[in-house]
Amino acid sequence: MSQNTAVRTATARHYLMCRPAYFDVTYAINPWMNPGKPVDAALAVEQWEGLRRLYLEHGHTVDLIEPVEGLPDMVFAANGATVLDDRVLVARFRHPERGAEAPAYQEWFTSRGYPEVHAAEYVNEAEGDYMVVGDTVLAGTGFRTDPRAHDELRRALGRPVVTLTLVDPRFYHLDTALAVLSDTEIMYYPGAFAPDSLATLRELHPDALLVREEDALVFGLNAVSDGLRVFLPDTATVLAAHLRDRGFEPVGVDLSELLKAGGSVKCCTLEIRHRTAG
Ligand code: ARG
Repeated sequence: MSQNTAVRTATARHYLMCRPAYFDVTYAINPWMNPGKPVDAALAVEQWEGLRRLYLEHGHTVDLIEPVEGLPDMVFAANGATVLDDRVLVARFRHPERGAEAPAYQEWFTSRGYPEVHAAEYVNEAEGDYMVVGDTVLAGTGFRTDPRAHDELRRALGRPVVTLTLVDPRFYHLDTALAVLSDTEIMYYPGAFAPDSLATLRELHPDALLVREEDALVFGLNAVSDGLRVFLPDTATVLAAHLRDRGFEPVGVDLSELLKAGGSVKCCTLEIRHRTAG
C-alpha cells in the first residue's frame, strides 16, 4: 500500500502544557517577536484553552506545569524537555530571558518520580529542535541548539540522532520547519535547510510531504499529529488539503496571539513518551 492511501490510526498521547498566564512579548529573540506590538493576554489564554480542549476531546491526556511570573515564553512547553521511554533530558536555553524555565521543568519531572532526569551540559531547546520519528531523533541546529548537544541527547536517551542544519532565521527551531506525521512520515519546508541537510532528508524520507513557503510562514509545520489527526494552525489551508489527501484529518487551531512570540501548536505541546512494555 502506498503512503498516500495508508489507513491511519490515532494513538492516545500524553502531553504537558503550560497556561499562558504571564504571556507577553517583552523581548525579541526571534524575527517574529516585536515588543512594540500589543498582545491580548486574555485572548492568548482563550486560544490556548481551545487547543487543550481539542486534545482532551480527541482522547489525549494533558498535564499542566505551573506558569512562572516573569517567564512570558513558558507557554512554549515543547522547549522544556525531551522525553523518551520515560527518560527525560531537560532543556538548556540559548537566551538568558528563558533560562529559568529549565529548572521549572526539571522540578516538574523530578517531583513526579521520573527515574532519569538529566540536566543538560550543552544548549538544547528540547522538542523545539528534537523531533522523534520512530526510533530516530531528527535534531536541529543553526540557531538555538548547540550541535554538541546532539551527542548528549544520543547518550542520555539512547536513540540515534540525525543532525539537520537550519539556515533561515524565520525558521529558527526545527519544529517551525518540519513536523512528524507518523512513525515513518514527516513533512517539511525545504527552504529552511542547508543543502547537505536537505540531501539527508531526501534520502531518509523520500516520501515526505513537501510544504510550500506560504504554509510554513503561517506556522503550518508547527503541528502535532496523533497518527490520524494533525493539529495545525487553521491558516495553513493548502497544507491541510494535502494532509487530507494522504489520509490524515487536519484539525485547524487559532493561536494568533501566540504567533506574536513566534510559536504555535507544536511549541505549546511537550510530548511525554512512555516506555512501552516488551
Ligand atoms: N519566543 C519563543 C522563543 O523564541 C518561541 C518559542 C517557540 N517554540 C518552539 N518550539 N518553536 O524561544
